[in-house]
Amino acid sequence: MQDIDIDDLAYVHISKGLDDVVVKETVLSYIDGENGRLFYVGYPIEELVEHSTYEEVCFLLLHGRLPKKDELESFTDLMKSERELPKELVAILSKIPRNSNLMDVLKFGIDYLAICDEELQSKGRVDNIVTAAKIISKSSTIVAYAFRYSEGLEIVRPSQELSHAANFLYMVTGVKPDSLSSKIMDVAFILHAEHELPASSMAALVIASTLSDLYSAISGGVGALKGPLHGGANEKALEMILSIGSPENVEGYVKQVLASKGRIMGFGHRVYKSYDPRAAIFRRYLESLSQQRGDRSFLDITKKLEEVVRRELAGKPIFPNIDLYSGAVFHMLGLSKRVFTPLFAAARTVGWAAHVLEYWRDNRLIRPRATYVGPPMRRYIPVHQR
Ligand code: CMC
Repeated sequence: MQDIDIDDLAYVHISKGLDDVVVKETVLSYIDGENGRLFYVGYPIEELVEHSTYEEVCFLLLHGRLPKKDELESFTDLMKSERELPKELVAILSKIPRNSNLMDVLKFGIDYLAICDEELQSKGRVDNIVTAAKIISKSSTIVAYAFRYSEGLEIVRPSQELSHAANFLYMVTGVKPDSLSSKIMDVAFILHAEHELPASSMAALVIASTLSDLYSAISGGVGALKGPLHGGANEKALEMILSIGSPENVEGYVKQVLASKGRIMGFGHRVYKSYDPRAAIFRRYLESLSQQRGDRSFLDITKKLEEVVRRELAGKPIFPNIDLYSGAVFHMLGLSKRVFTPLFAAARTVGWAAHVLEYWRDNRLIRPRATYVGPPMRRYIPVHQR
């Protein structure tokens, strides 16, 4: 046997974190990181949150265009008709342990839906869009049921009168939301629907590129979103705000975290090198909510955080990201922090599905390489001689 020259195996260029690596073309979203702009299929996010709905945005992402009136009605009806879960899944959810991580339950729930789908492997694009609508719709119910059961509460069945987002809030809290709360939830779902290729969408694509199925890809996306550097940051940001307690404590908190080389949650972004436009929108709704509730405590702390972090990190492009304000808004809407990241995941199911469907139009197995830095070739030594 001939020895192998290790130098022949080494690939010199490593794109750590896949920074700036482009793996696909997309029409789904465009992030202008320098100027803090975000577009879905060309539409500015600000116009969508003002004039559209989560259901319409789902159609836009899955079909690549806005629906006509009758198309929107039938897509909305389809999503409504898919809100309830198979009764066997409900029975399992009723037994999940108290305090279980709801991201794990969501992954499990989506995998369970795959088990129930007899035509899993044989779907064309049109059928896959219907499957996507089913997963999008049922994901919110899985999160809500799992939350209530694990808190020892009765589940709240979906309401057919409410929008997808307002119904989520209702199923979690048990309270029919007022118009401001319904609007904010809809905005939250729209803002979390799609964001080009973060780690979770990439995870979904890697799975889909093997020609696995939509459920597996979306379930993988949920797993990737769970981490605190991605979707988990909204929960951490709220914990931070609650532990700070009042605007007077912000200065000391920020200085202490930065001195220990820590990270301030809800700040910084791999792509945005200016203000995250989603944070700007959430901030406006936090202001409306604070005014409606007569409680400015969260608003005052987050505003002070912005001021101090910007001053202390003046030379770096570190600005608030979506999670700084979303956590505070969700808390004020009565949502437990246990559902923050699952809410993000449930809303993002459409983005993952849309990327997968787009990638499948011209699929190529994703298979990167690693540079070998281990020992040179050596001979195996039997265990009794070591
Ligand atoms: N607090 C303090 N310093 C920071 C922060 C922060 N939140 N974010 C980045 N920095 C500093 C970092 O220490 C580094 O400094 P230096 O150059 O002196 O070593 C510099 O900025 C660049 O950091 P990086 O780690 O190279 O930047 P990245 O692109 O890998 O980081 C990030 C992106 C989101 C992981 C990071 O900003 C972070 O950890 N933020 C806190 C967690 C968070 O809020 N995540 C939510 C992201 S938005 C939701 C989503 O879209 O998924």
